[in-house]
Amino acid sequence: MGKSESQMDITEMNTPKPKKKLGWSGLEVGLAVVVLLLTIVAITMIVLYATYDDGICKTPDCIKSAARMLENMDPSAKPCQDFYQYACGGWLKRNVIPETSSRYSNFDILRDELEVVLKDVLDTPSTSDIPAVQKAKTLYRSCINETAIDSRGGRPLISLLPNVSEWPVATTDWDTSYGTAWTAETAIAQLNARYGKKVLINFFVGTDDKNSSAHIIHIDQPGLGLPSRDYYECTGAYQEACSAYVDFMISVAELILQERNISVNESDISAQMRRVMDLEKEIANATTKSEDRNDPLLLYNKMTLAQLQGNYSLKINNKVFNWSEFINAIMSTVQINVDNTEHVIVYDPDYLLKLKILLSLTLVMPFVSHKREGFYGGVVHKYLMYFGFCAQQSDVSAVDVSIIDGIYA
Ligand SMILES: *[C@@H]1O[C@H](CO)[C@@H](O)[C@H](O)[C@H]1NC(C)=O
Ligand SMILES: *[C@@H]1O[C@H](CO)[C@@H](O)[C@H](O)[C@H]1NC(C)=O
Ligand SMILES: *[C@@H]1O[C@H](CO)[C@@H](O)[C@H](O)[C@H]1NC(C)=O
Ligand SMILES: *[C@@H]1O[C@H](CO)[C@@H](O)[C@H](O)[C@H]1NC(C)=O
Ligand SMILES: *[C@@H]1O[C@H](CO)[C@@H](O)[C@H](O)[C@H]1NC(C)=O
Ligand SMILES: *[C@@H]1O[C@H](CO)[C@@H](O)[C@H](O)[C@H]1NC(C)=O
Ligand SMILES: *[C@@H]1O[C@H](CO)[C@@H](O)[C@H](O)[C@H]1NC(C)=O
Ligand SMILES: *[C@@H]1O[C@H](CO)[C@@H](O)[C@H](O)[C@H]1NC(C)=O
Repeated sequence: MGKSESQMDITEMNTPKPKKKLGWSGLEVGLAVVVLLLTIVAITMIVLYATYDDGICKTPDCIKSAARMLENMDPSAKPCQDFYQYACGGWLKRNVIPETSSRYSNFDILRDELEVVLKDVLDTPSTSDIPAVQKAKTLYRSCINETAIDSRGGRPLISLLPNVSEWPVATTDWDTSYGTAWTAETAIAQLNARYGKKVLINFFVGTDDKNSSAHIIHIDQPGLGLPSRDYYECTGAYQEACSAYVDFMISVAELILQERNISVNESDISAQMRRVMDLEKEIANATTKSEDRNDPLLLYNKMTLAQLQGNYSLKINNKVFNWSEFINAIMSTVQINVDNTEHVIVYDPDYLLKLKILLSLTLVMPFVSHKREGFYGGVVHKYLMYFGFCAQQSDVSAVDVSIIDGIYA
């Protein structure tokens, strides 16, 4: 025992030294781990603190927008009593609707600012522009050069008419010279592809709403010549706009006839134009109200061209409207051919169904039997052309083909 005790002593006295050299005690390791963890926690906290994102955007643009929003509020109003005044009081106080507008909003302000920027861009000649921008600049220059516009008079319009199957009211013998070869597919496609006028059917190529890296064909209801479908009630405040709209077209027809030395029968022309206006009223009635078009999911009706033909077959001039022919007539201007498996998105199937009914009813409406119209295509074509000239839509849409071009290039 003694030996062992002394041995133990020796061992006990000796062992701590090598032990210390070999490793730390449990306590030390524990402490070290705790210190290490605390250090990590501290560093993490510092890093987190330094890079803390409170979700508030502090870029100059965000700050400006926030300031604008605050400005437009009225913090003195109690939101629970008058939320409108609380949210918009500042705006109402600072803004009046300009005499020239029927409304005024942040979007109008942005649009005005954008126009100033655009004017500057369009005024600046540059040799490095892409073709689409060059076309926009050419179009802009041609619109503001009043000397050139006045000196050309009606000649550009008159030389264009034969290219789009003429305007039946402003020519003689339309039925025999153009009417026999007329098809709705070509006529509507031509106005769309060459002149950017989406009449009766709005066709465009745009980003797929459910896949932003794909472009897809869209079919939608068309815009109208007057600012909204309400105008076509033609009563009360809209009465004047309606008659001015028809009068303008009558004047244009008469001017063309005079320039062509064709005798003008005013009562005949005005009767024809009023019938066309009746057709546009029905088309306006078939369109869906914009307030009913707010749900993007309802607008997204994807189908193949074959399904479009099967479910939405219109009949114009007693002939089934060939969707494939129509779409290919437009796409051929950019050397593209689509087959029946091509997908299209129909934004407004309801409009197409109503249009189908409307066109079938219009066939038996009295104005179609009018002698000079020959056959129904005449009325539709008069409408197409009427819309082509009268529409309030931006003329910049004339560069649409180049946009399709750019997308498919
Ligand atoms: C307007 O058009 C005329 C005739 O085409 C042309 O000579 C003139 O340079 C144009 N003016 C401007 C400002 O582009
Ligand atoms: C009409 O067509 C002719 C021949 O196709 C063409 O030379 C002319 O530029 C066209 N006119 C317009 C205004 O598009
Ligand atoms: C989106 O469109 C691209 C281009 O056409 C295609 O490659 C991709 O597969 C599409 N994505 C989906 C989820 O459909
Ligand atoms: C119309 O008549 C006038 C005068 O007779 C003549 O100068 C002009 O060339 C004619 N226009 C057309 C398009 O025939
Ligand atoms: C004008 O047209 C109307 C309707 O088509 C016709 O009844 C009338 O006789 C024409 N008037 C003249 C002077 O040709
Ligand atoms: C408008 O269309 C509806 C059906 O969608 C029809 O019942 C109504 O008679 C039309 N109104 C006019 C003025 O055509
Ligand atoms: C009509 O649409 C439905 C659903 O989109 C589709 O299943 C059907 O095949 C279409 N009918 C025709 C004749 O294409
Ligand atoms: C549409 O036209 C194409 C080619 O012109 C033809 O192959 C197709 O059968 C036509 N479809 C209908 C529904 O008439």
